[in-house]
Amino acid sequence: MLAVVVRTIGGPEVVEVAEVPLAVPGPGQVRIKVAAAALNPADAAVWMGIWGPVEAGEHLGVGLDAAGTVDAVGLGVARAVGTPVIAFDATIRRPVKAQAEYLVVDDFAVAPAPTGMDASLAATIPLNAMTASQALDHLPLRPGDTLLVTGAAGAVGGYAVELARTRGVRTIALGRPADEELLLGLGATSFVPGRGDVGAAVRQLVPGGVDGVLDAAALGDAAMGAVRDGGTFVSVRLDVIPAAQRGINVRHTTARPEADRLAYLSALAEVGLLTPRVALTYPLSQAGEAHARLIEGGRRGRIVLLP
Ligand SMILES: NC(=O)c1ccc[n+]([C@@H]2O[C@H](COP(=O)([O-])OP(=O)(O)OC[C@H]3O[C@@H](n4cnc5c(N)ncnc54)[C@H](OP(=O)(O)O)[C@@H]3O)[C@@H](O)[C@H]2O)c1
Repeated sequence: MLAVVVRTIGGPEVVEVAEVPLAVPGPGQVRIKVAAAALNPADAAVWMGIWGPVEAGEHLGVGLDAAGTVDAVGLGVARAVGTPVIAFDATIRRPVKAQAEYLVVDDFAVAPAPTGMDASLAATIPLNAMTASQALDHLPLRPGDTLLVTGAAGAVGGYAVELARTRGVRTIALGRPADEELLLGLGATSFVPGRGDVGAAVRQLVPGGVDGVLDAAALGDAAMGAVRDGGTFVSVRLDVIPAAQRGINVRHTTARPEADRLAYLSALAEVGLLTPRVALTYPLSQAGEAHARLIEGGRRGRIVLLP
C-alpha cells in the first residue's frame, strides 16, 4: 500500500509517496481504509526535523487526521468492518501515519464519522477540534464570560469559537481584517483585527479585559494585555508561552486522543455546530505538492489528501 513518508530532513521536496507493508491491527487497534487525510502545520514539523532526525535507511510517516472506513479490527475491538470513522493519529515518529491508503491506530483514537459528511470535511475534525476542546477545558470559563480567540479563522481557532458558543461563552475573534464576516458567521460575539495593540483593541470592547485567551495565532506576549487580572491564557505552542503577570494563569495544551470527546465533536459537526472547512484537495500521489502549499498562509480551510 502507498503512504506519505520522509526519508531525510529538508523542505517539502523530501515528501514522497512510497510502497510500504500493509500492517495488521494488534489488540485494541483498528485498521482504517483512509478516504481522506488532512494536512496540518504540525506535518511540516516532520520534514523540517523539528520532531527529530530520520535515521539512515528508515522513514517517518506523516499525518495526524484521517477519515475512512473500518477495514479490520484487532482483538477486543467491537467496531464493524465498513463503518465510517474519523481518527486522531497523535503518535509522532511512526513509519506510517494518517496520510496513507491504510492506517492502523488505537481504538481510543477513533470515533464514528459525522453521518452523511464528505470524508474530506470529516478528516479536518480530529486534531483541531480536539485541540480546541481540550484547550477550552484549561480555561475556567462560565456562561457569559468572554474569551479572546487569536487565529480564529484557522482550524483550531474556528472550532474554538464554535465550541465556546456551545458553552455559553462570548468570544472576541482575532483574525485578519478580511476574516470578520467569516468569524461572525461562525458565532463570534465580536471581532478584532490582528494588527496594532491587541490589548488596547480588545479593551475597547471589554474594558476590564477578557476572562481568557486561547492563543491559536501564537501571539504570546502581544495578547497578554487583553487578559484581565487573574484571567487565564492558554498557549498551543510550547515555543510561545508568555511570562505570567498580574496573576494571570498561563497554561499550555497538547492535544491527545480521547474517543468519547472525539465522538462528541463528530456529533456536533453532524448537527452543524462545528464547521469543517476544506480549501484544497489533492490525490495522495501529489502529496509533495500539497505539502509545498501547506506552509503558505492565508488559506481558510485545510488541504486534504485523497488516497
Ligand atoms: N498544541 C497542540 O496540540 C496543537 C494542535 C494543533 C495545532 N497547534 C498549533 O496551533 C496553531 C494553529 O493551528 P491551525 O491549524 O489552526 O493553524 P492555521 O489554520 O494556519 O490558523 C492560524 C490562523 O492564525 C492566523 N494568524 C496568524 N497571525 C495572525 C495575526 N497576527 N493576526 C490575525 N490572524 C493571524 C492565520 O492567518 P493567515 O493564514 O492569514 O496567516 C490563520 O488564520 C499552530 O501554531 C499549530 O502548530 C497546536
